[in-house]
Amino acid sequence: MQGRRILLVIGGGIAAYKSLDLIRRLRDRGASVRCILTAGAQHFITPLAASALSGQRTHTDLFDREDEADIGHIKLARDADVIVVAPATANLMSKMATGGADDLASTVLLATTLPILVAPAMNVRMWQHPATRRNLATLRADGVHVAGPNDGAMAEAEFGPGRMAEPTEIADAVERVLAAAADRHESGARGGVLSGLRVLVTSGPTHEPIDPVRYIANRSSGRQGHAIAAAAAAAGAEVTLVSGPVSLPDPPGVRTIHVESAREMLAAVEAALPADIAIFAAAVADWRSATEAGQKLKKDGNAPPPLQLALNPDILATIAHRAEGRPPLVVGFAAETENVVEHARQKLARKGCDLIVANDVSPGTGVMGGERNSVQLVTSANVETWPTMTKEQVAGKLVARLGEIAKGRGRA
Ligand code: C5P
Repeated sequence: MQGRRILLVIGGGIAAYKSLDLIRRLRDRGASVRCILTAGAQHFITPLAASALSGQRTHTDLFDREDEADIGHIKLARDADVIVVAPATANLMSKMATGGADDLASTVLLATTLPILVAPAMNVRMWQHPATRRNLATLRADGVHVAGPNDGAMAEAEFGPGRMAEPTEIADAVERVLAAAADRHESGARGGVLSGLRVLVTSGPTHEPIDPVRYIANRSSGRQGHAIAAAAAAAGAEVTLVSGPVSLPDPPGVRTIHVESAREMLAAVEAALPADIAIFAAAVADWRSATEAGQKLKKDGNAPPPLQLALNPDILATIAHRAEGRPPLVVGFAAETENVVEHARQKLARKGCDLIVANDVSPGTGVMGGERNSVQLVTSANVETWPTMTKEQVAGKLVARLGEIAKGRGRA
């Protein structure tokens, strides 16, 4: 991050002391850092400490005449490459999610179009509160990047998620955000193959609840779908990723919406339309439990309760068959264990999509959950067989092909 300019907003939490270390780590990596301290932050650290470590003036007041004459909040919101909010308190996240602007930090965050990374830190119950979950989902949907929080010992002798990520972890996340922004910029300047197009991607498995603690799932890791979303963003597209539960980080530069079940995934996909290209890489569970018990099912000595299944909506088919607002290019995936191409052809017709990426997931291929993939691209007219590659390479090649197809159709 040599020469990159970072605006660090320090919120009012005990983790603010770690942000002083973060300033040093970022500067050690060659970045320049300018700080804003909220009123709360100044209970934990002083503007003087932040200035001494950053080597720059620290800003605290929205209506500071000297500040406004010197730089001004709008300029602060522009004169950087990325804004990092660490610690991001529950209150700061809430203001960001609702567009509140009642102090310098929140006003700058509302006035900016720069990439934003938040490192939440708060009491575990505040972190788990539905209001914070909602705010977090809103921020993610707005394209805000999130680092942490980590599990661990916290102030007030508590334990759980809510500890701010470590300064080196935050610095690594800043690097990723800056790299993604640079990729997008470069690809925009190059006129990336998908620049100006809206791409929607589904990824990962779905979890279908049986009761509050049990669910039906599958072995999908989400690697292929996430790699496609990242490759599409790097190719200049405006990408929305609807992801089932995965243990992967959100791809940088991608608006990521997190869902659990197939029905939630369909609702999120419909809400994310319109799109120019929709790529359905998720391994959606075909069936869900017909009933969802409100309480944990008990083994009470009797025979186990029968599991009744109900059919889930087919997201790909629903979108591909839409009379209105169908994305011009709809791509499905077909994981098969035999007669791969034949089954893919049938699926193409049945689901109403334009292209199927077919792969052999029979045991021994290591594709499901693995790092490599061997795919065949099936359209109604022909079949392309690609060599075995990493999922990232498959994603890059697929994005390049979709760019060609979109171009061939007069950019869809
Ligand atoms: O029918 P099958 O599951 O083999 O089809 C796979 C393709 O359909 C994938 O693109 C997958 O994302 C999509 N699909 C879906 N909703 C479902 C089942 C599959 O979008 N309920």
